[in-house]
Amino acid sequence: MKLLIKNAFIINADTSIEADILCENGLITKIENNLPAEGIDETIDASGCYVFPGGIDPHVHMHLPSHAGYSADDFSSGSKAALLGGTTTLIDFVTPKKGQSLTDALVERKKEAANSLIDYSFHVSPIEWRETTEQEIKDCIKEGITSFKIYMAYKKAIGIENETISKVMKVVGESGGLVTAHCELGDEIEILRENFAKEGKLSPEFHPLSRPANLEAEAVKEFIEMGKEANCPVYVVHVSAKESLNYIYKAQQQKQEVFAETCPQYLFLDDSKYQGNFSQTAPFVMSPSLRKEADNKAIWEAITEETIQTIGTDHCPFSLQQKEFGKDDFRKIPNGAGGVEHRLSLLFTYGVLENRITLNQFVNSTSTQAAKIFGLYPQKGVIQIGSDADLVIWNPKKENTISVKTHHMNCDSDIYEGITTKGAAKYVITKGKFVVEKRKLVLENRGSFLRRKNTVNLFTN
Ligand code: URP
Ligand code: ZN
Repeated sequence: MKLLIKNAFIINADTSIEADILCENGLITKIENNLPAEGIDETIDASGCYVFPGGIDPHVHMHLPSHAGYSADDFSSGSKAALLGGTTTLIDFVTPKKGQSLTDALVERKKEAANSLIDYSFHVSPIEWRETTEQEIKDCIKEGITSFKIYMAYKKAIGIENETISKVMKVVGESGGLVTAHCELGDEIEILRENFAKEGKLSPEFHPLSRPANLEAEAVKEFIEMGKEANCPVYVVHVSAKESLNYIYKAQQQKQEVFAETCPQYLFLDDSKYQGNFSQTAPFVMSPSLRKEADNKAIWEAITEETIQTIGTDHCPFSLQQKEFGKDDFRKIPNGAGGVEHRLSLLFTYGVLENRITLNQFVNSTSTQAAKIFGLYPQKGVIQIGSDADLVIWNPKKENTISVKTHHMNCDSDIYEGITTKGAAKYVITKGKFVVEKRKLVLENRGSFLRRKNTVNLFTN
């Protein structure tokens, strides 16, 4: 299969050039001017559009089990929504049950992801330390899993103590991997939640008050310190609080390998969303919770200054019926919201078009950095000869108003409802074939499990 893209304005993280792109058998094989159209199966003229490497979302939860049932998008529906938004690779999670080995949980999770329409990998979560955990981590690395996720929150379920985190970091660091963390101090949050409950303060407005910004920042500080001690690269997921940024920035200045991710909800939404009735506010119940406008501003600045390297979504939608599990107690509301479809258009509109980031930074933070940090580069995250032909032909003029009525995520609410965007994926190519044409899914390509390599050290390369 030969596909030719004519007149492409190719945006990579570090270059912008005009050329034609030839894709053969799923790979990019030529990038030159005036490539001939003879012998080509399909040709497209990309004049007036940008061509980006496919987006990589390093933080999604498809088909996540919860007390309210599975999250609303499975790998099929979630990957479809991702594709329509210009994302062609997902990194989800493997969370074992208590007593289950990491490797058995990985085998199970791979089966659940087999219906993904795009390529995928997982971060694996040690939720306890058993005699075999060290070997299980090493076995996961052999299977191409080079990043692990620990939770400092959710102590009653999957959160672990600092002592265990340090053990995980030691093994992962020695093996050349990376530990990522949900940074919120779980014990302190639990006390606040219980105090609110005792006082009968059980509506969603108490969700953010029970997990304040300083408990995120303190956890970030501890996590970074543990990473330094264990000589293990660390990555802070979904940074939401201004106070967390100082710790990340300082560690990076000292050349410690500390990476940070944020998500669009921490740029576009604030805690005023928790004022209102249950069905208005419950869709915004997620952890970390939404913060203040000043935090949104600081997070934008950290993206511009590249203290934050990646933008994921923490995509994890639940239906309103599922959110109702917490109608009488915010602690029972399943945490999470959808966003995988909107990440690129939101970042393009309010990042690039409002001059907060350049086009190259846009590609860097939505694709290239995730590929480098999580060992997928240069297979993914760049348009160059030999890379996978996962490409987005982006119409910078297409206007849209985000709405639950038109989105493709399997969710009956949309936390970005009413926000207008300019710029959308017109065509999306995966494995060298058109899968989205004129914003419609036209081909259901099967995604593949990606065996990843170790992190590229961004501070020395
Ligand atoms: O609220 C969130 N983030 N839900 C998804 C699960 C998690 O905590 O990562
Ligand atoms: Zn998450």
